[in-house]
Amino acid sequence: MAKQQTYVAPSILSADFARLADEAAAAHGSDWLHVDVMDNHYVPNLTLGLPVVKSLKAATDIPLDCHLMIENPDRWAVGYAEAGAVNVSFHAETTDNPVAIAKDLRAAGSLAGLAIDRDTPVEPYLSLLRNFDTVLIMTIKAGFGGQAFIPELLAKVRTIRRAIDADDLSIRLEVDGGINTDTIEAAAEAGADTFVAGSAVYGADDPAEAVRRLRALATP
Ligand code: DX5
Ligand code: ZN
Repeated sequence: MAKQQTYVAPSILSADFARLADEAAAAHGSDWLHVDVMDNHYVPNLTLGLPVVKSLKAATDIPLDCHLMIENPDRWAVGYAEAGAVNVSFHAETTDNPVAIAKDLRAAGSLAGLAIDRDTPVEPYLSLLRNFDTVLIMTIKAGFGGQAFIPELLAKVRTIRRAIDADDLSIRLEVDGGINTDTIEAAAEAGADTFVAGSAVYGADDPAEAVRRLRALATP
């Protein structure tokens, strides 16, 4: 399938964690709200987990896009789907059986997302794509917000885009890391249709306006 409608997903990693409901409201008009779950094992950082996602779900109408940077997603991922996340992405690096987790996520009512970190090639996963609804390509090394975009990683976006188009798959292609007004057009040109932005949205005076600007830049 050709590219889907452009989505911008502000990452609350760059928001004020004591005021998450207000921060979600400040990004009104966003397509998804990106929630970075980090467990201090897969990545050195530690953020939030299921209780916070449940509370956030009750506090905003923006669909939640949960990005699990955690070990043992086979044990934990489905809980985020049951909590009402629209999409749950887990890292390819953290499991030997990504297809089984994808099946569980779909059965629990969310989209199933495969996240690929900076140092992981995409080729081993091309034959599995039809089991997923979203693919998230990291354009930094997962773990922290505010890092610089790595343009070389767009080669992976191009590869996934070609595979989606060749097999006419219905998959959102998401990029995450260093997306801002200087980098989003290159990511869109490479084939992404869904754009996570943390510091570019929550570092702006008007987050909702930042989302509109990013969406306009990414939309052909
Ligand atoms: C980092 C997270 C990102 C992060 C992006 O591991 O997955 O979602 O919040 O932040 P920026 O947009 O500031 O790079
Ligand atoms: Zn993320």
